[in-house]
Amino acid sequence: MKSNTIQFILDNEIYTIDWSKVDFLPSTTVLQFLRAIPGHTGTKEGCAEGDCGACTIVLAELTQDNKLTYKAIDSCLLFLPALHGKQLITIENLATKTPTATLLHPVQQAIVETNASQCGYCTPGIAMSVFGMYKTLKIPDTKNIIDSLSGNLCRCTGYGSIIEAAKMACNTIKPDHFSGIEPTIIETLKEINRSTDAIELSHKHQLYLLPKTLKQALELRGKYPQATIVNGSTDIAVRQNKTSEFHHQILDISSVTEIKQIITTNNYFQIGAGCSIEDFKKFVQQNFHEFSPITDHFASLQIRNVATVGGNICNASPIGDLIPMLIVLKAQVKTASTVNSRMINIEDFITGYRSIDLHNKELVTDIIIPKRDNDSYYFSEKVSTRRDLDISTLSIATIIKLSKEGTVDDIILVYGGLAATVKRAKSCETFLLGKQFTLSTISETINLITNDFTPISDARSTTEYRLETAGNLLLKCYYSVLNELESK
Ligand SMILES: Cc1cc2nc3c(=O)[nH]c(=O)nc-3n(C[C@H](O)[C@H](O)[C@H](O)COP(=O)(O)OP(=O)(O)OC[C@H]3O[C@@H](n4cnc5c(N)ncnc54)[C@H](O)[C@@H]3O)c2cc1C
Ligand code: FES
Ligand code: FES
Repeated sequence: MKSNTIQFILDNEIYTIDWSKVDFLPSTTVLQFLRAIPGHTGTKEGCAEGDCGACTIVLAELTQDNKLTYKAIDSCLLFLPALHGKQLITIENLATKTPTATLLHPVQQAIVETNASQCGYCTPGIAMSVFGMYKTLKIPDTKNIIDSLSGNLCRCTGYGSIIEAAKMACNTIKPDHFSGIEPTIIETLKEINRSTDAIELSHKHQLYLLPKTLKQALELRGKYPQATIVNGSTDIAVRQNKTSEFHHQILDISSVTEIKQIITTNNYFQIGAGCSIEDFKKFVQQNFHEFSPITDHFASLQIRNVATVGGNICNASPIGDLIPMLIVLKAQVKTASTVNSRMINIEDFITGYRSIDLHNKELVTDIIIPKRDNDSYYFSEKVSTRRDLDISTLSIATIIKLSKEGTVDDIILVYGGLAATVKRAKSCETFLLGKQFTLSTISETINLITNDFTPISDARSTTEYRLETAGNLLLKCYYSVLNELESK
């Protein structure tokens, strides 16, 4: 505690920032830091809100079995202390230099050979996203490539040649100069991470707390109940960058590994509040694939790599993508303080527009999801202006149980984007219960959506569009269930 320093690897050397010697805030973003130190301006700022990918860097971090995992991340949304104990890889690190020549990394070479760059502003970010893929996947297919690049915008080259570059680079993955130094990097990171003490960074205008264990996190939450909780920081950093929101005290729980895991028991899944959206997306694909239309189109890989399940729920946004499916799955939110813990139904946890049932000395630690009900039908859909990297205009999640006679035995029907919170369509549910699950029943139900919701018109959409789309989504749900019934 009170070390006042963080350490990470940059340019293959340990980089130390000691807040008794520097003047910038601990919540300086990694992008702001890189652009302020010599020789690292290859990382660009396009939007400073996670939308363009020009700022993409790759972080290499230790897994529990002491291997390295490489993740592409938007540096504009990452606060400096999140680098502690990791290797920061920037565009400047990709090529290697000999006394007489510069040897491009295979990723850079492929970009050159496929003419995948014109003005070049987006190119460092694109190269880092492809590099993240190069170090992560064996041989990515086109779907993986498009997914990994969905967080990078290019306004002049055209994506065809960029995808071609990614294919060329990743179809012949060989050890690169990073592979050779991995053992040294691993040993250095182990050394940096040896101390499990919490880090307390003290700046004259900001106190930044970085606990490493849940116990430390809860103690610090009790000691500094006014501190802003930061997890993946993808919401908080946007607010800092765009609205100059300032936090005098920050409790950053992103280094608490105990709350990053997914534990499977006989009856339920325990999802740590710090589980990344990317890990949750894989979990959904394996266990509740009907909700993949939502998790597969959640932000971009750079954001999913750091954004968390806990952060999404605690935001309590009316268009938060995970909340509808978690209501349908009857999830419970587990909160804890140093003295007790509580289990709250997620529906009760969300108390209003961006408001949650969290006491001021508590943290959300887990989300408990019961195992799937194989006798029920699940359905979800997300509607957004763009398919990729866009928040929802509207979303739906449902679970429907039918009797042998084809009547509705049970239903939970949830919409996001129709009210101030994600909300159940209770009149529709009540109407459907006990009725035959037919097209005419569904058509009648659609007329009842206005009993449950009076959506507003705003910049994202009009009232009329929202209501009509809500009805169409219910119709799509009906045909999806019908397809499943017919295929049985
Ligand atoms: C470009 C862009 C695209 C996005 N796309 C989507 C999208 O498609 N769908 C979507 O739903 N969201 C989207 N988001 C929003 C955001 O990424 C998600 O809400 C994300 O899950 C937030 O998680 P985080 O860990 O980064 O939250 P943070 O920014 O760290 O925190 C968010 C809030 O939760 C609180 N909090 C976090 N963890 C805890 C905890 N354990 N206990 C108590 N309070 C806690 C924080 O205090 C804060 O108020 C997008 C954001 C950006 C910038
Ligand atoms: S600067 Fe646009 S995503 Fe970071
Ligand atoms: S090359 Fe100009 S924006 Fe991509």
